[in-house]
Amino acid sequence: MSDSLLAALRPARARLDLDRLAANYLAVAAAAGRPVMPVVKADAYGHGAARVSRHLVALGAPMLAVAYAEEGAVLRSAGIRAPIVVLAGIAPGQVRSLVQHELTAVVSTPSTLELVLQAGKDAGRRLAVHVKVDTGMTRLGFTPSAVGEAAARLAESGRIEVEGLLTHLAAADEDADATRRQLDLFDEAADELARRGIRPRWIHAANSAGLAFLRRHHTLVRPGLILYGVRPRPLAPAIDVKPVMTVSADIELVKEVAVGTPVSYGGRWVAPRRSRIATIPFGYADGVPRTDDMRDRGELLVKGRRVPVAGTVCMDLTMADLTDHPDAGEGDEAVLFGDDPPAWDVADRAGTNAWEILTSVGSRVPRVYLEGGRVVGVESRFTPRAGDRTR
Ligand SMILES: Cc1ncc(COP(=O)(O)O)c(C=O)c1O
Repeated sequence: MSDSLLAALRPARARLDLDRLAANYLAVAAAAGRPVMPVVKADAYGHGAARVSRHLVALGAPMLAVAYAEEGAVLRSAGIRAPIVVLAGIAPGQVRSLVQHELTAVVSTPSTLELVLQAGKDAGRRLAVHVKVDTGMTRLGFTPSAVGEAAARLAESGRIEVEGLLTHLAAADEDADATRRQLDLFDEAADELARRGIRPRWIHAANSAGLAFLRRHHTLVRPGLILYGVRPRPLAPAIDVKPVMTVSADIELVKEVAVGTPVSYGGRWVAPRRSRIATIPFGYADGVPRTDDMRDRGELLVKGRRVPVAGTVCMDLTMADLTDHPDAGEGDEAVLFGDDPPAWDVADRAGTNAWEILTSVGSRVPRVYLEGGRVVGVESRFTPRAGDRTR
């Protein structure tokens, strides 16, 4: 099934190594010494939320985190039964779906507080929520001075269980002092709730970089990036992980061109000598950044060697200069990122971070899942049988 499906698609894919995902998860759990709530928002950072979630829950993840209620609803449709925490905003029109799908709201604005209080009255059962305090991100969350009152209103309603207290770290990957100040404020917020008799079971702050800044009363961690095998930069916890995703495509055509031949839109790359130019079937609609730095200094890995990108990246195609790699030719695989080049290299060329590179892999790129070195599933939006297992 997977072979015939792949044969029907252009030769480009994101390979996802589920053994590495498992090893990364176990390494993070061991280092954190606490339950891990994997962040699987944005389709598990492009890795495929349903499959990643199923895999991590089977390994023992007690709950999952998404950004939006609709992401949680999709996971429920995929048969995921673990608790799912909705980290970002809840719109009024989403409350019904939230209750129906038994998703756990994060209460982080006055309007969400009112929505959840009303939902608690209507639901006919107690709803569990997490309450968010803004300790320095200046994004969602109650101020430290308002969070106690907000949590008390929820708890005193009798319909809502304040099951969690969280904050989000703004710079755990770059500023240890600022992170400690945020965590001090978070400690104070937890103390304030305790003074009011509210002792949430789950107290959590740590994203991937925050795993290096755990405090005693934190009972849960909330990483994303590091589970996918990419470490934050420049500060990261000392946890050994390996990239889960490799994005590649097979060279479609190799052309010999004369010195002075322009390549791609605008002819901004001109052959400085007689050159061998490869055309590769992935482009910016698939997640290859279309930046000047990618054009001028980007590299792909072909048969164990880096080759330079040649010319502006197109929507569907990218060209590379194979002149110094005579062994490489049509049909050979060109890797955009994975072990080598790492996602951070591409991020640097794109003027962004590794989170954006992972989440930018286009939805038309099939996801090929591997376990024990074998393909165990292929998911493509171009097949009605997406998600079928092949064994
Ligand atoms: C609220 C929240 N928690 C946790 C995470 C996970 O962060 P990371 O991928 O850096 O581990 C994110 C990601 O952006 C987030 O927004």
